[in-house]
Amino acid sequence: MSQSNRIKHAAVLGTGSFLPEGKVTNFDLERIVETSDEWITSRTGIHERRKAGKGEENYRLAVKAARRALEMAQLDPLALDLVIVATMTPHMIMPSCACFVQSEIGAYNAFAYDMNAACSGFLYALDLADKYICSRPDMKILVIGSETLSARLNWQDRNTCILFGDGAGACVVTSRENGRGVVGSNLCSDGRLWNLLYMHSPKSLNPDLMQDGNNGCYIQMTGRDVFKHAIRAMEESVNDLLVQHGFSIDDIDLMIPHQANIRILNKLMERLGVAREKVYINVNKYGNTSAASIPIALDEANRQGLMKRGDLLLFCSFGGGFTWGSLLMHW
Ligand code: ACO
Repeated sequence: MSQSNRIKHAAVLGTGSFLPEGKVTNFDLERIVETSDEWITSRTGIHERRKAGKGEENYRLAVKAARRALEMAQLDPLALDLVIVATMTPHMIMPSCACFVQSEIGAYNAFAYDMNAACSGFLYALDLADKYICSRPDMKILVIGSETLSARLNWQDRNTCILFGDGAGACVVTSRENGRGVVGSNLCSDGRLWNLLYMHSPKSLNPDLMQDGNNGCYIQMTGRDVFKHAIRAMEESVNDLLVQHGFSIDDIDLMIPHQANIRILNKLMERLGVAREKVYINVNKYGNTSAASIPIALDEANRQGLMKRGDLLLFCSFGGGFTWGSLLMHW
């Protein structure tokens, strides 16, 4: 057995997700901005998205998803060693969302922190969890993607407010028998393109650090450029990863991409040559939930029994930064 075969990787023990009940349909949006259900559906595939209501702060969504993942994993929160929350809409800047989650679920033996890689946050966090587990295989890690994007949208900007939604997804990972778990990942970023998709911080209280053009901390986007970069970047990342690990796209049993919009997904499926039946898509129901989109989709697919042991899963994402990447996992 080669050295690399002996290394244990992060495998999933349990998954969970939580979506707030509040819905915003395309017809609701017709009453807010100049748009139409037909325009939104044909350009994005989104019919409705969820919106957090009173008492549904980001960390509370994360806690609900986390509890479901822990329940499936049959794991006491005290057994957790680490909690990572991927988010770009934290409840506070400090402390992290992960510390709120740790406190709420009682994971008092864990250390906890947030990570921000925009829509790629969950993949980055899962990759990081895998690296911890490679060096300490007994670690139990809770990886969450959670967002309240509704709080960071300009509801007068029809370019963005139609796209995004709130929600949280989580999974508990640890090492399992040889062969199960993360096979490899291919993460990338290009900060030179930051200004095609960004969200300002709150205005600086230091006059010397005040930024021109900071009109408030909400998402701003050049949609067409994002569209083009997203498809090309994910395609390249996936193809490189498959080659690196000696797989072809036909070896994939299920692909769980970041749910940005249906036109990006259709183009990506076409370019990769992957059949629609092998791709999990729920963007129609939830819109783009950024770092939460992959773990929500993973939990839904898992609870629908779409994966069987040993299946090869492919994840890929793209988001602000730009950040993007892909990850292979044996279920
Ligand atoms: N309703 C009606 N008209 C609209 C709307 C709307 N909600 N939004 C924009 N328009 C108008 C524009 O103002 C423009 O009008 P004009 O020609 O009079 O100037 C026209 O529609 C075309 O605008 P475009 O921006 O060129 O429209 P496009 O066909 O590119 O579609 C979209 C816009 C859906 C945003 C597309 O560019 C896209 O999907 N981009 C990717 C964005 C994305 O997914 N971002 C998420 C974050 S990154 C990620 O997760 C991958």
